[in-house]
Amino acid sequence: MLNPSQQIMRLGLGFAVSQALRATIELGIPDLLAAGEQSVDELAAATQSDADSLYRIMRLLAPEGVFREVLPRHFELTEIGAALRSDRPGPRDFVRMINSEAYLAFEQLLHSVRTGKPAFDKVFGSPRFDWLSEHPEQAALFQRAMVALGQGSNEAVAEAYEFKPFTRIVDVGGGHGQLLSAILARNPHLSGVLFDLPSGVAAARQGAGGDLPRTEFIAGDFFESVPSGDVYVIKKVVHDWNDERAAAILRNCSKAMLPNGKVLIAETLVPPGNEPSQIKGIDVVMLAVTGGMERTQGQYASLFDAAGLRLERVIQTRGPISILEASAA
Ligand SMILES: C[S@@+](CC[C@H](N)C(=O)[O-])C[C@H]1O[C@@H](n2cnc3c(N)ncnc32)[C@H](O)[C@@H]1O
Repeated sequence: MLNPSQQIMRLGLGFAVSQALRATIELGIPDLLAAGEQSVDELAAATQSDADSLYRIMRLLAPEGVFREVLPRHFELTEIGAALRSDRPGPRDFVRMINSEAYLAFEQLLHSVRTGKPAFDKVFGSPRFDWLSEHPEQAALFQRAMVALGQGSNEAVAEAYEFKPFTRIVDVGGGHGQLLSAILARNPHLSGVLFDLPSGVAAARQGAGGDLPRTEFIAGDFFESVPSGDVYVIKKVVHDWNDERAAAILRNCSKAMLPNGKVLIAETLVPPGNEPSQIKGIDVVMLAVTGGMERTQGQYASLFDAAGLRLERVIQTRGPISILEASAA
């Protein structure tokens, strides 16, 4: 049992664990351990790294449940660590993505807390998505990380909503296209539009999120306009923006929407009070990196109001994500 000061020190050392995790992924350690346990010397030789240093980061990660030291300086992969293998769709790209530029931005978190503005812009000199547009490799990693984060929730959204009344679905900020792919597979009567910045559209065209039949790929800026359709899905996009910017995106959907259309925001709602939730961590990432925020149901209702839309109902899917359905006010 840790005493209070040890517990605080453990919290303060969180960055060591997250960067050690990233280093083992970059070295391909989880793949090397896929066939069974190995000594640190073998792993170091295979990855051209320093055996003693590698031992130290793996020793740190073992009590976190990622590896198990089965003999002195011999490790095997645990069930949790196996999620980091490159042949498993999983969180490895998320860990790599969040521990690169986002990690550097976090050094200036205090700036965000004092000003309400994203630390990322101060550290990198431009907003997150502008920066990604100029860094295609990091943009591709970002899209792969989004696929990893969306595991389960894209299917969950696709199955939780009745798309029968509609004909043309627009996935606004659809990125890799995994959500649109899942919806189109279940709804052969629908045609789709994948709308995103050029980097997102490129990922979707390359099949990052699965097959996209009957789909038009349109690159553009959702602050200018969005394509026309009768049902809009906007998943994990509104949380990237402050209220003013988020309402501007919704207003553009409202303007382009055909009569009797619907706008569906798919987001994870922030639970009240002290309830632990990963979304509270993602919320602070939004604060520091994009300038956005995670919201409660009431906050989404106000955003819809500001955009000339009315929240009709909230559907809790079987995943950690809700659908907030709105129509013209
Ligand atoms: C957090 S990702 C979510 C992607 C996807 N909807 C998902 O659920 O995984 C936000 C998406 O918004 C796109 N985006 C950011 N700014 C944009 C803009 N101005 N116009 C269109 N898309 C934009 C990004 O390229 C990215 O694909």
